Amino acid sequence: MSPAVPLRYDFISASDGIGLGFAQELAQLGFNVVLHGRNPTKLEKVKGRLQQEYPNVSFRCAVVDASSTSHKQIDKLVAKLQDLHLTVLVNNVGSVAKTSPLELLAAEEIDSAINLNARFPTQFTRALLPKLTQSKAPSLIMTIGSLADFMVPYAVTYGGSKAFNMAWSSSLALEMKAEGKNVEVLAIPVGKVTEVGHSKDPITFFTPGARTVARAALQRVGCGKAVVVGYVGHAMQKFILDILPASVFASVVVPRMKGLWEEEQRKR
Ligand SMILES: NC(=O)c1ccc[n+]([C@@H]2O[C@H](COP(=O)([O-])OP(=O)(O)OC[C@H]3O[C@@H](n4cnc5c(N)ncnc54)[C@H](OP(=O)(O)O)[C@@H]3O)[C@@H](O)[C@H]2O)c1
Repeated sequence: MSPAVPLRYDFISASDGIGLGFAQELAQLGFNVVLHGRNPTKLEKVKGRLQQEYPNVSFRCAVVDASSTSHKQIDKLVAKLQDLHLTVLVNNVGSVAKTSPLELLAAEEIDSAINLNARFPTQFTRALLPKLTQSKAPSLIMTIGSLADFMVPYAVTYGGSKAFNMAWSSSLALEMKAEGKNVEVLAIPVGKVTEVGHSKDPITFFTPGARTVARAALQRVGCGKAVVVGYVGHAMQKFILDILPASVFASVVVPRMKGLWEEEQRKR
């Protein structure tokens, strides 16, 4: 990825965590950035900080709550971006894996988690595609997923919606090729990351900082795959998870997830 066309913009969820890491990395590459979030005050503060750090880059804010957006609001948001030359979409918005047995979740909580993690990225990509494909110049749709997208007891809506994202993204990658569109569609599952909204744990090899993860994801652009783990420590974890026999996998994952659920109950 090298900056060539002036006034190219990317669009990401960026008031915190990995999204903020993407904003910094892309700004450093010379991209102008649309920052997406739900909290206008926080977004403006982040924009101010980024503007100081990257004075030659232009930043804009787009405020929309992805957990409850209607189709109309999504189309309205896209209409507001019509004056921009958008070449990169980073679908980063999402939540932490809130733990609970499925039957104890309120119906509304399930809708909200699916909306945030799966419905919004899909609908937003649908609405933005004509803009991303209108010129023959290359563009990119990157979607952030999770290593916890398969057999995730006590977080089934989270795991399910992340798996959905990987599935539609890899399908869209083929569709774009079949349609002769110059859009790379790349899905990036990530493992545990620190320096994010909900965690400031120390950085380790297996728990990298948000910006490291964003940089590693961008370095995978052009790799030719539809789904690829960006950060090396997470790739090692994925390799091990994939080769574990199902019974061994269950003996590791079940106590871990159940423990997180019990801890959550104790905190309440
Ligand atoms: N961190 C991890 O360990 C990890 C692991 C696997 C996958 N992931 C995935 O990576 C992505 C980024 O996560 P992160 O850890 O960087 O999280 P984060 O630090 O909490 O940042 C999430 C971003 O999404 C925004 N957001 C949250 N809910 C929103 C809503 N309803 N409407 C609009 N924007 C909303 C947040 O805005 P506010 O600042 O207003 O909250 C923030 O900008 C997510 O898709 C997550 O599922 C993270």
